[in-house]
Amino acid sequence: MTLLGFVGAGNIARALAVGLGEPALCSDGGSGRAVALAELVGGEAVSNAELVGRVDVVVLAHKPAQLKAVAAELGDAKVVLSLLGGVTLDQLEAVLPGAVLTRGMPNTAVAVRKGVTCVCGAEGLDELLARVGIVVRLPERLIDAATAVSGVAPAYVSLIAEAWVDAAVGQGIPAAQAAELVCAALVGSAALLEERGMDTLAIRREVTSPGGMTARGLRVLERAGLRSAFSDAAAAVVGTGAAK
Ligand SMILES: NC(=O)c1ccc[n+]([C@@H]2O[C@H](COP(=O)([O-])OP(=O)(O)OC[C@H]3O[C@@H](n4cnc5c(N)ncnc54)[C@H](OP(=O)(O)O)[C@@H]3O)[C@@H](O)[C@H]2O)c1
Repeated sequence: MTLLGFVGAGNIARALAVGLGEPALCSDGGSGRAVALAELVGGEAVSNAELVGRVDVVVLAHKPAQLKAVAAELGDAKVVLSLLGGVTLDQLEAVLPGAVLTRGMPNTAVAVRKGVTCVCGAEGLDELLARVGIVVRLPERLIDAATAVSGVAPAYVSLIAEAWVDAAVGQGIPAAQAAELVCAALVGSAALLEERGMDTLAIRREVTSPGGMTARGLRVLERAGLRSAFSDAAAAVVGTGAAK
């Protein structure tokens, strides 16, 4: 078993640790979240200095702005997986010289082992990450763009689902049933897309009778600017650079 040490015990550390389902060491900035995460996965909350001496892989899961201070406590780190948004391999190398470095951008669906993790750098951790979903190797210059696609996906899909449920409630369907319909429709549609090799046009045509109900709904979504909203959102995510 590879012992992981999570520097940071927040949202993404929790998702990855839970998805992997094995005891891990973890640290935090003083909130006590490391103790909670250690209890959840059966590990131990420790200081950064102790963590680096005991684990096989150090996982950077704090905020990018904390990198310099954290790295000063991780001088001896040998194998490092950085989850830090917008922080390049060169920037990591500058503060952690000599460590074998992998940059990974997972999404929180790793918690249910259906994640997407985009990676660049050293390849030794690909197999480990593949246990919690798919691993996609990309050139480093595309990692921020990938963040704007798969990293944000649980948030985007949650927003879409919420709007969809509200629309259903607006048409008289009770909220609980509306939520059931939307969730099942999302899961089923994603399965269909996967099975049909993402042939979106063919799937759309099958549901859209000429002049019919679906055509009316699609026209409203197009007029509301669905495509340009996605394009603008991707540009906004990439344009933010390092996540705060
Ligand atoms: N959330 C996502 O979906 C996602 C996906 C991919 C990548 N990421 C990246 O993952 C990183 C963390 O994001 P997050 O959403 O998980 O943030 P978060 O929930 O705010 O968690 C950050 C964690 O870092 C801890 N921390 C702060 N200073 C520390 C220190 N000196 N030593 C050890 N731990 C320290 C915090 O401690 P306290 O608990 O004491 O505050 C907290 O537990 C970011 O760089 C982000 O770009 C996030």
